[in-house]
Amino acid sequence: MKLGFLASKNGSNMQAILDACADGRIPASPSLLVCNNPSAFATTRARESGLDVEILNGKLHPDPDDLDTSIRDTLLAYKIDLVVLAGYMKRIGPRTLSTFANRILNIHPSLLPKFGGKGMYGLRVHEAVIRSGEIETGATVHLINENYDEGPILQQQSILVYSHDTAESLQERTLELEHSLYLDTVSRIAKGEIVLPSD
Ligand code: GRF
Repeated sequence: MKLGFLASKNGSNMQAILDACADGRIPASPSLLVCNNPSAFATTRARESGLDVEILNGKLHPDPDDLDTSIRDTLLAYKIDLVVLAGYMKRIGPRTLSTFANRILNIHPSLLPKFGGKGMYGLRVHEAVIRSGEIETGATVHLINENYDEGPILQQQSILVYSHDTAESLQERTLELEHSLYLDTVSRIAKGEIVLPSD
């Protein structure tokens, strides 16, 4: 199974999966990172792990359809079987979405459908969790569809929200959970234990 990543930022979730591929916990070959931001730390991480990095963004392709086509064609050229969104801050276009239907995973730092949707990313998610007085939060791995954070859920795991938690502490603990949940999900898919819907 060939993995392709899309990331915009730090890439710690991608790193967790790369490490698990390298030591055999995930039977898959990571080959490509598509990144919109040339200075993202994710590009350094990917190159250090031997992945090719393609920078594709609205600067290079001002027409959104061109950008979408270019992302899709790059993933196709690398014969990517599973696309892993790892902190990718842009919407996936309709061509990429339909060519890779049910083959694009995302992770979100909450128990979806709670605290998801447009504008719910980063600290905002955890601030909203604390404001709402929830006693638990967590992380969700799901297949993407055309709406933010809405596709079918594959795996979810929860943690408690403590009374002393701040948005920052919650983000930190959730991110740790994300790493193990994401690699577990990719590993189960690669081993055939989670079967993705056929399109
Ligand atoms: C994670 O919280 C993930 O859930 C969200 O963006 C963040 C990315 O973190 N989609 P990283 O770049 O993987 O460190």
